Amino acid sequence: MIKKYGVIGDPIEHSLSPIIHKEFSNHFGIQLQYEKYLVKDNQLSDFINQSKSSLWAGLNLTIPHKIKAMDCVDELDLSAIEAGAINTIHFCDGKSKGYNTDGSGLIYDLKNNLNIKIQNKKILIIGAGGAVKGILSKLILERPKDIYIYNRTESKIKEIQEKYLKKFNINKINNLCNSDIHFDLIINAIPSSFIQSLDNFIDYSVLNKTTVFYDLSYGSISGNFKAWCKSKNITYYDGLGMLIEQAADSFLIWEGKRPKITNRIRKIITDSYL
Ligand code: ATR
Repeated sequence: MIKKYGVIGDPIEHSLSPIIHKEFSNHFGIQLQYEKYLVKDNQLSDFINQSKSSLWAGLNLTIPHKIKAMDCVDELDLSAIEAGAINTIHFCDGKSKGYNTDGSGLIYDLKNNLNIKIQNKKILIIGAGGAVKGILSKLILERPKDIYIYNRTESKIKEIQEKYLKKFNINKINNLCNSDIHFDLIINAIPSSFIQSLDNFIDYSVLNKTTVFYDLSYGSISGNFKAWCKSKNITYYDGLGMLIEQAADSFLIWEGKRPKITNRIRKIITDSYL
């Protein structure tokens, strides 16, 4: 029987996960089926339960299911508990277990692919939604000097500060213009299309001479920050690397093998959305 996997979300049409996992399974010569499914909020729990009873092998979850799906699985891995969100479910021995590979995927991309140092660096995170929850605990483990978070809704920053109170002092930054703090690494977790004018939102004052900007978005929605970075002459990376690495970590959970991301795989995936 061919193992069945899928990614569920709303919207889901844009998802590159089927292409990525097809490449991974080809790489190892494993036969599996991986499809994308449009699943509405009110269908989430039924979909997960049906996948379990139909003996599917696993699921990935994307917006808007990462937090709510925590309540739809039988067990949670430590990665999921720490993040407060899941992006991967493994069905095994009649049970469903939730994991989070977003944080490990980001760290893998930063350290192993891009050679970006985190230890002792000043980090700015823009946004405080589900994606930020997923990456924070892994970032903290890398011992940065400072983490500052900017978010439109301040209560979400407060919630995050309280969660990490005993582990790491997370700071709030109220304004990304006229800042007197200059960051080594900026991680953006807000789709730039949500922000009407970047010029009023962020200015050069948050930068130092070697600031690197890492955008969790990829493809067309990451365009605005990319152009902004170019105009400020700073290095910009989109989130495609993280997307591929979090998928590799999901594959490892499911199949016990972590695919090596070759330039060939990267090119196939990049070409598929350009
Ligand atoms: P994800 O799971 O991708 O993190 P999310 O949880 O909906 O998605 O979070 C989206 C982020 O984009 C949040 O930080 C959100 O800010 P709020 O917490 O204030 O909602 C941010 N965001 C969305 N629309 C925005 C806008 N128009 N201006 C600024 N920030 C925005």
